[in-house]
Amino acid sequence: MDNTDTYLFNYKGYNFEKPLVKIGDLENMEDFEIRDDDVFIITYPKSGTIWTQQILSLIYFEGHRNSTENIQTLDRAPFFEYNIHNVNFDKMLSPRVLTSHLPYYLVPKGLKNKKAKILYIYRNPKDILTSYFHFSKWLVTLEATHTIEHFMEKFLDGKVVGSRWFDHIRGWYEHRHNFNILFMRYEDLKKDLRSSVLKICSFLEKKLSEEDVDTVVRQATFQNMRSDPRANYDDIIKNEIGTRNEGKFLRKGTIGDWKHHLTVVQNERFDSIFQKNMKNFPLKFIWDMNEE
Ligand code: A3P
Repeated sequence: MDNTDTYLFNYKGYNFEKPLVKIGDLENMEDFEIRDDDVFIITYPKSGTIWTQQILSLIYFEGHRNSTENIQTLDRAPFFEYNIHNVNFDKMLSPRVLTSHLPYYLVPKGLKNKKAKILYIYRNPKDILTSYFHFSKWLVTLEATHTIEHFMEKFLDGKVVGSRWFDHIRGWYEHRHNFNILFMRYEDLKKDLRSSVLKICSFLEKKLSEEDVDTVVRQATFQNMRSDPRANYDDIIKNEIGTRNEGKFLRKGTIGDWKHHLTVVQNERFDSIFQKNMKNFPLKFIWDMNEE
């Protein structure tokens, strides 16, 4: 049985998470007024969104770095199209950090003024697939799929929230000249978090002391985020959204977990579709922890 209609809401060719989205919000998105110092985190789901929210929140908010304020990371860098806490974006202090999974053609038109910044985080799609498979089984607002094989077909067809991964990354990359955008890899954050934080600070034109950079890095490690309820969404998801089992948002946080889940045949099928869709695409992907 296909439950797609229960879980997905298609608006202008892109699939939203139906239980969490408000149609009125979608209609106003493109005309949303952008400020020059806005920062958008943009990702395809399961590419390291929460990690980037945590990093940017730590970079921008001293009260987060020194733990004097007890605010959820989600509220510091709220989701733009899934405004689950009904934040009044117009009342947020500048600089606003907003988070989104939108494709390039649905974001506020004002982002094309090239002043507001976009940080686009991407991850190798086999790990996204693996992460997404587990996440969909965990969260009640997503359609659970029993086997990874079945989930892979949905993922490749774009019958998931976020639609086709290929279109998301290609669309953003091919239209990059219209935006002030930095592309960064999940795997580079994983291999060298400190350098990645410094690169992000430089893009954001934020100068932090050495100690502050150390603090950001320390609080953005997988283990520390996993044990910090403000950073890992577990409470919000369990109490406000609902789960089907004992999962964790921060599940494994590794590079190459797909190798434990895809069979040789499934992997070959993925590769052939990847090659067809990503021909001549210049960004490189890291599929394994030991790869440079
Ligand atoms: P896994 O399911 O592979 O563990 P998103 O926030 O876009 O939904 O992405 C979630 C993925 O990012 C999960 O992947 C999660 O564990 C991983 N992640 C989150 N924080 C991380 C961190 N500090 N270090 C490494 N991976 C992290």
